[in-house]
This record gives sequence, structure tokens and C-alpha cells, in this order.
Amino acid sequence: MRRIGGIGLATTDLVNARALVSRNERTMQMVETHPEDRPFAVQIFGSEAQVMADAAQLLVELGVDTIDINMGCPVNRIAGAGAGAGMMCNTDGTMKLVQTVVEAVKIPVSVKMRLGWDSTSLTAPLFAREFEQVGVAAVAIHGRTREQGFGGTVSLPGIRAVVEAVQKIPIIGNGDVRNVADAARMIRETGCHGVSIGRAALANPWIFRQLSEWEQTGSYSPAGTFDERLTLMLQQFTCLEERHGSERAIVLFRKMAHWYLKGMRILKRLRGDFQQVRTRAEMDAAIAVIRQAGPIDGNRTGVLTDVEIPVPNGPVDKW
Ligand SMILES: Cc1cc2nc3c(=O)[nH]c(=O)nc-3n(C[C@H](O)[C@H](O)[C@H](O)COP(=O)(O)O)c2cc1C
Repeated sequence: MRRIGGIGLATTDLVNARALVSRNERTMQMVETHPEDRPFAVQIFGSEAQVMADAAQLLVELGVDTIDINMGCPVNRIAGAGAGAGMMCNTDGTMKLVQTVVEAVKIPVSVKMRLGWDSTSLTAPLFAREFEQVGVAAVAIHGRTREQGFGGTVSLPGIRAVVEAVQKIPIIGNGDVRNVADAARMIRETGCHGVSIGRAALANPWIFRQLSEWEQTGSYSPAGTFDERLTLMLQQFTCLEERHGSERAIVLFRKMAHWYLKGMRILKRLRGDFQQVRTRAEMDAAIAVIRQAGPIDGNRTGVLTDVEIPVPNGPVDKW
């Protein structure tokens, strides 16, 4: 996606601060990226101030550009342990934790949070104001509460309240932005200074370039065609292969391949076949079949229909 262009900042998945400090092998792999992926942000989670600060210092040593603190993850294993969205239930502890991390490093520290724990405790504006005072560089705000999980719709007034609570740090609006029109609405109705995108990037890796073009010129080029998506997919696979070798790369790539192939609108059966490949030769054969077959509606060179990205559902307490 960096090669396509348009991305300002991209972060890793949430990384366990304690595992980072103990240099757990899998965790260290989570904070690796391609040299072209700059500026590079790592998102950390945890509930202990000193461990989070130690993790932040380690990331500085590793050359990371900015650190994001996860204060929004709704999953029980994390929120129930006082990290992620659980931090929204502990004002004093959270302020101390965030301040400790900010003071431990010289690079920018941002926070990603939700509107609050539930509709009776919309604490995000209060937190954002306090974060600005202790030196947080930016706040990303997902316009749902923890109780909402991914249900219902994003509250643009809720994001607006966070924008209005701070003096000068940028507020990044987040949630349900699937295309340029959604981003334009988010900016117009909340006054936010930036937009962050999760799921739509899986459906359309061109979305950041489209947004950047729209910002600069008012219009934007279409998302990638079938052939362009296939090329991008193979480029990403090659990066993984260079790092991990073919067989491990094939396993690591399955999740991403699913989204590329969905976006390319190929037959479900061919998607299934791709998930079964185990060697580079089998993969090349599966790709040859996909390339030959093209999208189900035969549109190789035009705009493909958007893909719906499913989200975790059911009662958030069971996540
Ligand atoms: C499968 C999945 C994994 C996610 N992992 C993270 C994460 O590690 N850190 C984080 O801050 N948000 C995470 N999110 C939340 C997204 O960053 C984002 O806030 C949310 O999906 C809403 O934005 P979107 O509508 O653009 O996807 C995740 C969301 C999904 C669906």
C-alpha cells in the first residue's frame, strides 16, 4: 500500500507490552516491517505503566517513529484485564500510564480509544483533554463505545465532542469509513483533522491514494483493477517470501490472500483452492488458474464492486 501511495501513518496490530519487554519471538516479528513502510507506528497494549514505558523505550531502540497506546480494544481478554477499552474505566491509572509512556520517550505518542465504556460513560472528551495536557501528540477516536462492539453506527457527534475538547492536537476520526464520501462526511460533521481506516483497506488497498488525490485535487482515480490487484498481491507475497521463505510465507499470507481474492471477485471455489496450496509450485498453479478465470463478471479492466467486510458480532462480553 505504501507503493500505491497516500498513506500518512500506518500502525501494527496491538502488541502486548509485557511480551515485547521479554522479547518474545513472535511478538518481535509483529514489530517488524518493510523498510519502505515509513513513518512506522507500533501500537502497544498493557495495564502497567512501567511495563508500557519499558516497551516504548525498546521500540525507540528498534527505530520506531511513533507509538500508539491501545485504549479501545473491546475483547474481554484485554479489556477485562484493565488494558484496551478497560483503561476507560480507570481515569487515574490511565492518566498515570499515558503520562509515564510520554515521559519515557522523545518520539510522539498517540492514543487510540473509543467514546467510552458504554452510553452512560462517554469519557473520551475528558480523556482527550487530559492527554493533551500530558503531551500526547494525537488521539484517534473510534465513534463507538466498548458496549457497542462493532454494532450500531458510528456516532459523529460523539467524535465531534472529542474534537471540541482539545486545543490543538490533531484528532483522528475512525469508524465505518468505506470510501471517499464517508471520509468527507466524517471530516465535515466532526471537524476531525484526519481519518483512520481499518476494514475498508482490506477491501480496497487504493483507498488511501484516493483520499490523498481527493484532498489535493477534489477528484480521484478508481480503485485497482483485477490485474492490478493480482500484481499487488504477488508483490506483498514476495516481501513475505524474502523474509520467511516460501512455505512459511504461504501460511502467513492466507489471511491477506483471502481479502485480495475477495476484492478481485473470483469464484468462491478458486478462493478455496488457493487456501489449500502448500508449496510455491502449487501456488503458482493456483494463480495461473485465477489469472485465466478473471473476475466472475468478466470485468478485468474496470471498477470492481465493493466487498463487505464482516466484523466480530454477538454479545461483546463473550469476545
Ligand atoms: C479484525 C479486526 C482487528 C482489529 N485490530 C485492531 C488493533 O489491533 N488495534 C486497534 O486499535 N484497532 C483494531 N481494530 C479496530 C480498527 O482499528 C477500527 O477502529 C475499527 O475496525 C473501525 O474502523 P473501520 O470501520 O475503518 O474498520 C480491529 C478491527 C478488526 C475488525
